[in-house]
Amino acid sequence: MKKTISVAPMMDCTDKHEIFFLSLISKNVKLYTEMIVANAIIRGNRDKLLSFKKISNPVALQLGGSNPSELAEACKISENYGYQEINLNLGCPSKKVQKNKFGACLMSEPDLVAKCISAMTKATHLPITIKTRIGYNDVENFNFLKSFIQTTKDAGSKKFIIHARKALLKKLSPKENLNIPPLKYDFVYKLKDWFKNDEIIINGGVKTTNEIKNHLERVDGVMIGRAIYHSPYFLAEIEKEIFKNKNIPTRTEVMEKLIPYIQEQTEKGTQLNHIMRHTVGLFHGQNGSKIWKQYLSKNMCIRDADLQKVNHLMDQVRKTNPVSLER
Ligand SMILES: Cc1cc2nc3c(=O)[nH]c(=O)nc-3n(C[C@H](O)[C@H](O)[C@H](O)COP(=O)(O)O)c2cc1C
Repeated sequence: MKKTISVAPMMDCTDKHEIFFLSLISKNVKLYTEMIVANAIIRGNRDKLLSFKKISNPVALQLGGSNPSELAEACKISENYGYQEINLNLGCPSKKVQKNKFGACLMSEPDLVAKCISAMTKATHLPITIKTRIGYNDVENFNFLKSFIQTTKDAGSKKFIIHARKALLKKLSPKENLNIPPLKYDFVYKLKDWFKNDEIIINGGVKTTNEIKNHLERVDGVMIGRAIYHSPYFLAEIEKEIFKNKNIPTRTEVMEKLIPYIQEQTEKGTQLNHIMRHTVGLFHGQNGSKIWKQYLSKNMCIRDADLQKVNHLMDQVRKTNPVSLER
């Protein structure tokens, strides 16, 4: 089975602009959209929610929902937008999501989850996959996880992405639920030992290429969220170290390639800050990254920012090299 590296779905982070931006750094990672609610696709502006600029990276759509027929309809509608996979969110712990019965709380309703996956599978030729946690509330044991995964597999899920910590649905905020419950990678390794022929992807807390290499010894893929959102150029290291790609753009080249996209998108009415906000961490860890961040927050993370400001910033980067552009 081919090993994969993917960027995690993150609400308010992995929108279409972030997906395009990240594709400029890495051609090999798989990219997941933020969770889009099935009902929003059915009733909302479909093109706005689902369209994205074509790139060579595989892109997966993540759906939220728990109504089998709505999820099936959302799959049908989304099928022709260029996604390679549709993933069902069974791991998000937010209160709002729980109220609507999406995300991690569905781990307590495996029969309903099975109905959802089965309806989704019948509605589209795209592979349906799941992203879940190792447990929820007081439920954290391997037998539960194994049986939950088996249920989703029997219903048609083709891949299992496991955030290796449980969700405490009543006690913790969404942010705390990303940090406080301890990571238990052994649950995921054991799952792979049990489901030898199935694709098991590990997620949670991965920050270095060494960690990625270690996980790849035990599972089929690694999904990374915050480490890439906060420092997108980490993807360049992944390209170099994991995919053995020697042809990696510098940070400045990434920005140069983003400019035509910015032009195209702003002409269509996109606000510049909706794109530029994703580049804040591009120079993370470099000398002068503060200058980059400050310039962006002063000039671009505002509603009336325009392309001239980006060009001005890039002129500065090209001429005076205010940030260290070394890799
Ligand atoms: C800002 C933010 C938004 C998130 N939104 C989603 C989401 O829409 N769907 C989802 O399945 N997980 C979501 N997650 C969880 C991530 O996909 C991932 O499981 C989690 O951050 C752990 O991976 P990491 O330690 O590499 O960040 C979100 C996480 C963050 C930080």
